[in-house]
Amino acid sequence: MTGLSDALRGRDFLSLHDFTPAEVALLLDLAAQLKGDQGADCHPLRGKAVALVFQKPSTRTRISFEVAVGQLGGQPLYLNAADLQLGRGETVADTARVLSRYVAAVMIRTFAHAEAEELARHATVPVINGLTDRLHPCQALADLLTLRERKGELAGLRLSYVGDGNNVAHSLLFAGAKTGVDVRVAHPPGFAPDPEVLRAAREDARETGARLEVGTDPAAAVAGADAVYTDVWTSMGQESEREGRRAAFRPYQVDAALMSRAKPDAVFLHCLPAHRGEEVAAEVIDGPASAVFDQAENRLHAQKALLALLV
Ligand code: CP
Ligand code: NVA
Repeated sequence: MTGLSDALRGRDFLSLHDFTPAEVALLLDLAAQLKGDQGADCHPLRGKAVALVFQKPSTRTRISFEVAVGQLGGQPLYLNAADLQLGRGETVADTARVLSRYVAAVMIRTFAHAEAEELARHATVPVINGLTDRLHPCQALADLLTLRERKGELAGLRLSYVGDGNNVAHSLLFAGAKTGVDVRVAHPPGFAPDPEVLRAAREDARETGARLEVGTDPAAAVAGADAVYTDVWTSMGQESEREGRRAAFRPYQVDAALMSRAKPDAVFLHCLPAHRGEEVAAEVIDGPASAVFDQAENRLHAQKALLALLV
């Protein structure tokens, strides 16, 4: 355990792909432990600050990180990227070098994944991905914690993701691959996950035996699932595509009829924010199968574990 946690110290958290199944399990175990006792005597960030850089809006990520850093004894710094010199052309590399002189870790939410990678390359402190156009690994960690709380052992579960092959779908593929959860994605034609992400996740899955399948039939994907997950049809930055996407995604709404194809005790998951009447029917997200607010809460516990182990 000590060896493993030492192995996480100083690392970036840009993608679950970069972590072994044992390291992901350690993160989840610590998250569950911190959730249990609210980390009453755990203040590893005392005297340290953590920068939270946002290029996009946020409710959950911002608040859960601010509260997480505070509960761990540290000082969170919310930084709207538009208000930094970054917004006036200072390079990502220089921003990374400067932030590293003040803070013990940097969380970034941005558009291009390459920008988060560049920040990490030039920072001398851990960089955490708080969502890029490609990945949302903090969300996936909280989702695994939620699934484990609801279903127990993760290995052998089946999670069906219905919707856009986006950042959330990509991180769920890696999450399944690392924990032995079979992931079935059903997407509208033209909105498949990135083939390179699928290839890398399938490579990861060889270690755990998880099966990762991608297709276009929601009913087939959901059949026998332990969890059904969906996300918005239009992600941040894609607003100009909203109308076209609405038409393409309409047959992919998660409603009670689709949920009835999953196991009778299946849970419904959504990273939030949700649009009732679009990707999910109100009867599902507000119904007894929904675990969406546990997911939101678990962002806090998962990120506390992440900060405690990386910093
Ligand atoms: N799920 C999630 O990341 O929510 P926010 O966009 O509110 O941070
Ligand atoms: N796919 C969504 C997730 C929001 C948390 C987006 O990128 O906007």
